[in-house]
Amino acid sequence: MRVLGIETSCDETSAAVLRGDGNDVTLESLVILSQDIHRVFGGVVPEIASRAHLTAIVPVVERALADAGGEAVDAVAVTNAPGLVGALLVGVSFAKAYAFARGVPVVGVHHMEGHLFATALEHPEAVPPFTALLVSGGHTLLIDVEAWGRYRLLGRTRDDAAGEAFDKVAKLLGLPYPGGPHVERIAAVGGADSGEFRFARPMLRRNQTPEDSDFYDVSFSGLKTAVLNAVRRVGGADIERDRPAIARAFQDALIETLVEKTVRAVVQHRRSRVVLGGGVACNAALVAAMRDRLVPRGVEVFAPSPRLATDNAAMIARAGLFHLERGERSGLDLNAFAAQPIPGLVAA
Ligand code: KG4
Ligand code: ZN
Repeated sequence: MRVLGIETSCDETSAAVLRGDGNDVTLESLVILSQDIHRVFGGVVPEIASRAHLTAIVPVVERALADAGGEAVDAVAVTNAPGLVGALLVGVSFAKAYAFARGVPVVGVHHMEGHLFATALEHPEAVPPFTALLVSGGHTLLIDVEAWGRYRLLGRTRDDAAGEAFDKVAKLLGLPYPGGPHVERIAAVGGADSGEFRFARPMLRRNQTPEDSDFYDVSFSGLKTAVLNAVRRVGGADIERDRPAIARAFQDALIETLVEKTVRAVVQHRRSRVVLGGGVACNAALVAAMRDRLVPRGVEVFAPSPRLATDNAAMIARAGLFHLERGERSGLDLNAFAAQPIPGLVAA
C-alpha cells in the first residue's frame, strides 16, 4: 500500500510518501517545511501557524509526490489530534479533499502515536514490545508498547513538558527559541561539573513503589523555578560566566529524572528495547545517559535522527499504514481535536 502522510499539528508543514506492507516499509519521500517566523515571537503563534500551513500545504504535498516519483497513492493519512486546532484543520481539510478527489480512503492519525512509529522507519528492530519515552514541546509520555495499537500509559508530566522546560529555561538564560538545542550546546560548555549549581531531581524519591502515583510521572515546573532563582541569585553581570553551569545543572536534573523513570518502566515490564521520540530525543546527552544506564543491562536504546524525532509526516504515514491495514477508515466528517487520548490505550 502506498500512503500519503500529512502533518500540520504545530509549526511544521510536512508531507511524505511511504510504501509498505506490515513492518516492511520504504520511505519514498519526506518534505518538512519549518515555520521560522515563530522565532521572532519566541513561541508558536497559533493564528500565524494556521496561515503559514495554508500557504505551504499545496507546494509541500506536490514536492513530496514529485520526489516519490508519482502521484498514485492508495490512501491518505493525516494528523487530526492533538495539536493547534486551526493548524490541524488545514491538514485535515486538505487530506479529505485530496482523498475525495482521488477516490481513495483517508484515515486520521493521533500525533503521539506517529512519534511511536518514527524510530522504526530508521531502525527496523525498534518494533514492539518496547518501552517508549516521548519527549516533545507539548508532551512527555512514558508508554509501555506491548504491540502496535496496544499502549499502556505509565507516566506523564504533571505540568511542563520536557521540551517546554528546555524552552522556558533557555528564555531565562537569554537564549533564542526554540531553546532545546541552545541549552544543550551551552550545557556542554559547562563541563562535567555544574559547580555550585545542583537542582533537586523532581518526583524522584528512593523509596517510591509502582503503587505510588508519582512512580512514573514527572514534573518540571519546580526545576524551572529553581533555574529562575539561580539566575536571580547570580545577577545580571555574572550571568555570562555562570550560564553554562546553570544550563548543565538543569539538563542533568531533567535527564536523570527521565532516565530513572524509563529504567523503572523497563524493569517492571521486562522490556529489552527502549524507543525515544519527540524533539527532545535530539538531545545527545539524553540519549547517551539512557544508553549508559540501559546497555549494561542488555537493553537496546533506539533514538531517531533529528529529522524523524521532530514533527514530520513520515511517522504519520507509518502509523496511518498500520490503521489502514487493519481496515480502519475515517469518514469525510473527520474533525480536528486539540486533545484526545492515544487510540489503543489499555489499562495500566
Ligand atoms: O517534537 P517537536 O519537534 O514538536 C512538538 O511536538 O512539540 O519538539 C520540539 C521541542 C522543543 O521544545 C525544542 O526545544 C526541543 O524539542 N528540542 C530539544 C533539542 N532539540 C529540540 N530539547 C533538548 N535538546 C535538544 N537538542
Ligand atoms: Zn510532535
